[in-house]
Amino acid sequence: MTRDASAPAQPGRPARVFFALWPDARVVKRLHELGGEAHAVCGGRHMRRETLHMTLAFIGDVPHDRLPALLAVGDRVGAAGFPLALDRLGGWRHNRIVWAGAHEVPAPLAALVSRLNGELAAAGFPVEQRAFAAHVTLLRNARTPLPERTIDPIEWCVDGFALIESQRREDGAHYAPIRQWRASGGPGS
Ligand code: 2AM
Repeated sequence: MTRDASAPAQPGRPARVFFALWPDARVVKRLHELGGEAHAVCGGRHMRRETLHMTLAFIGDVPHDRLPALLAVGDRVGAAGFPLALDRLGGWRHNRIVWAGAHEVPAPLAALVSRLNGELAAAGFPVEQRAFAAHVTLLRNARTPLPERTIDPIEWCVDGFALIESQRREDGAHYAPIRQWRASGGPGS
């Protein structure tokens, strides 16, 4: 899941980028089913399977010549593997999303976000000032807010993170991986 960062997917436009955790097929299946159940209650737009992810650090629009600096940020942070239990389902009124999240952010996840933000700031990129809210968006434009509740945990074995480009198309956002960093080695790490 790596492409040449010097070859823009949408030439002439800045790249809209973020660091994220990308779930494996088993976790995607569970999240998508959960999204389907929530959709029956609150309507809105059910996120496509291939879009499901947890944002670690949203950077926004960057010129293509800044992408190597972002790859260097990822290299300096390095991948970590850790278990993550998604055990909450809820919704936010302000942006009308329904999400799956973690009741407790595991220490390695908090450390990963903190290291990313530190390296991003050191490299001159904007950094989110709000507290990290560990969530995977399942629905957008939900009709009704979903009361937060505990769910059977979805056990996610996190094995690294990725730098993703968000491409806006008529049918919604498409996410193109630029590079991934894997804790266990293998292609793309
Ligand atoms: P969301 O799922 O909560 O909307 C790609 O757009 C990813 O970056 C999504 O996971 C989205 O979070 C997140 N994102 C988009 N705009 C953002 C912003 N301004 N600040 C923080 N995260 C953002």
